[in-house]
Amino acid sequence: MTLVQLVKEAQSHSAQAGGTLVDAFGRRITYLRVSVTDRCNLRCSYCMPAGRPKWFEREKLLSLEEIVRIVRVAVALGIQKVRITGGEPLVRNDVPQLIAQLREVVDLRELVMTTNGTLLERHARELKDAGLDRLNVSLDSLRPERFAKITGSNVLTQVWAGLEKALEVGFAPIKINMVVIKGVNDDEVVDFARLTRCYPFHVRFIEYMPIGANREDWEQAKVVPADEIKARIAATFPLERISPETEAPGPERTFVLCESKGCIGFISPVSDEFCAKCNRIRLTSDGKLRGCLMRNGEVDLFSALRAGASDEEIQRLILTAVRRKPEKHTINSSDFAYSDFYTMNRLGG
Ligand code: GTP
Ligand code: 5AD
Ligand code: SF4
Repeated sequence: MTLVQLVKEAQSHSAQAGGTLVDAFGRRITYLRVSVTDRCNLRCSYCMPAGRPKWFEREKLLSLEEIVRIVRVAVALGIQKVRITGGEPLVRNDVPQLIAQLREVVDLRELVMTTNGTLLERHARELKDAGLDRLNVSLDSLRPERFAKITGSNVLTQVWAGLEKALEVGFAPIKINMVVIKGVNDDEVVDFARLTRCYPFHVRFIEYMPIGANREDWEQAKVVPADEIKARIAATFPLERISPETEAPGPERTFVLCESKGCIGFISPVSDEFCAKCNRIRLTSDGKLRGCLMRNGEVDLFSALRAGASDEEIQRLILTAVRRKPEKHTINSSDFAYSDFYTMNRLGG
């Protein structure tokens, strides 16, 4: 298909959906998740390959300039929100600089980041000053020993200091992501919900997904369905659902506890497929565009960039990735294929 045909096809969909980037199922794509590195200073059991991880070689990673260029082209096509992810994005030294440059991209409405929080105390102010709008922080246990067991590092205090610093410099709301795993940390869901009574945090309970690295370890029995988590919390704190019209677009269902400063949310990719509302594509740190977190099939921007691609060529590849975006994941079906290569730390969630 030529560029003109691709743009025409996208525009014909856009007449129905009100945007330029519309996939084959009529979903408007407005959110680009950018993984800037596969490296991480933690080793969360549900995310990282066991043993010694094999990192991408540095020259295989997109440079800051390449990332900014891709984002600029994507925003011109209709992307409104960009999330910086990893691995752990803050292990890459040029991330504050990247934020500052992305902030200059005209028409980018929201610039956000997901981090494990370990380096946040040091970088929160710099990120705020650079123009980052919002932060999501991964945190799976409030008990130091258990935190150390899950992540491989005894740094809960450090993460907590990072959260406090982020609050102090004015990030709001700060979302906390807890991956709930049966028999590992599911006895803490009420404690996490309780956090929102004292802190203005937005705590999200995420169902454990089978992504590459944890394929041997994942089993359905370890998934705690969102409804079960909700029932456990509701037995202690009355919950009120935020009206779906006021909820942010995305996979989360949001609730508030009575007399709380924050709120709680449920992301349930396993028990409640939300793919029909999916609005995102993903850029990996080795420069591949992926339509779905859970389905293989990437469009190679990296090779095109290194071969001197024009902005039009980049545009064409982004349109191709959107056009190829699968309808839904297949976690719950027998033909679900794990990716050995794109493990969670290479996809950025
Ligand atoms: P907000 O923009 O703040 O709502 O954040 P987000 O949920 O888009 O981003 P975050 O990085 O905090 O994502 C939380 C987690 O939800 C991800 O790491 C995944 O585990 C899960 N998740 C997010 N998007 C998808 C998706 O499209 N498909 C699936 N299967 N899971 C997703
Ligand atoms: N299942 C669900 N969520 C996961 N994350 C990482 N691995 C998994 C998994 N197997 C989430 C973490 C982090 C985000 C980047 O991805 O909570 O916040
Ligand atoms: Fe690192 Fe995040 Fe993966 Fe944990 S979930 S190992 S913090 S990339």
